[in-house]
Amino acid sequence: DWNMPDYIAEAVESIRKQVGSDEVILGLSGGVDSSVAAALIHRAIGDQLTCVFVDHGLLRLDEGKMVMEMFAQNLGVKVIHVDATAQFMGHLAGVTDPEAKRKIIGREFVEVFQVESAKLKNAKWLAQGTIYPDVIESAGKGKNAAHTIKSHHNVGGLPETLNLKLLEPLRELFKDEVRKLGVALGLPHAMVYRHPFPGPGLGVRILGEVKKEFADLLRRADAIFIEELRNTKDDNDQSWYDKTSQAFAVFLPVKSVGVMGDGRTYEYVVALRAVQTQDFMTAHWAHLPHELLGRVSNRIINEVRGINRVVYDISGKPPATIEWE
Ligand code: XMP
Repeated sequence: DWNMPDYIAEAVESIRKQVGSDEVILGLSGGVDSSVAAALIHRAIGDQLTCVFVDHGLLRLDEGKMVMEMFAQNLGVKVIHVDATAQFMGHLAGVTDPEAKRKIIGREFVEVFQVESAKLKNAKWLAQGTIYPDVIESAGKGKNAAHTIKSHHNVGGLPETLNLKLLEPLRELFKDEVRKLGVALGLPHAMVYRHPFPGPGLGVRILGEVKKEFADLLRRADAIFIEELRNTKDDNDQSWYDKTSQAFAVFLPVKSVGVMGDGRTYEYVVALRAVQTQDFMTAHWAHLPHELLGRVSNRIINEVRGINRVVYDISGKPPATIEWE
């Protein structure tokens, strides 16, 4: 049980001592860990920190806008926003294998990040939002085959090639402590308590070949689902967003027939996935109320032209995984 203001003061002091007057680069993903690391390091060294935010075109709706608003506008953090959508889409064209897609996204991410970092000539440090469970996980690599089933991508491997020292101020914290720290540093509660989002983003939620057109449809469907989950409240003031561990929409690149007014439609399918889990190694599908599912389905089909059918995923993990790829 630790006292937050004391903890922040101590962490700030230790970061200042560590980096002195050096410049620091941080890859901001919009996720909780990198966001909290950015807020903490900015608190410590202000303008000596530059964040690089790479938009691979596979982020959630308005993610880029949100990150820029929160960090650049509200907190006054220096953020370089790189829109690399065209580059990623180019490399992903024609690729359908899930692991091949992950590898390409991971590789291009490192590539873009390196190019941007190299422009910051005075930087001596690379900051990362590594938390305690990440430290444990990488220490145990190879022991647990489940971890290698999908190659999880992060910015690992960058320090060697960039010749930067590593700054990892969250290394001793558990997720719940990182969240509390984020709130104490002024990050919005909703942001700090967001569901996890995979590094390859919508790239693994668009089955098969990734196209910008598909990503645009999926982003809008997903935003409707999340908005409706957040808009529910039970007697304990808990929403279905709070009561699920991860919820998202998946784009199925198959067309089915529908009717709209007097006409026949022939459009794509979206699957909704919502799970409850403690550790993400096993998970149950969430028993969302039928009225909620109906509302989401109606809204997606009415508001997202190009989608005429919505299905709900009732598979547990195992044997299914949480993501569809
Ligand atoms: P699965 O689909 O394996 O997902 O049941 C378990 C958790 O891991 C996340 N996930 C990823 N996160 N890069 C990431 O950073 C990835 O390639 C990746 N694949 C899955 C998934 O969102 C879930 O929280």
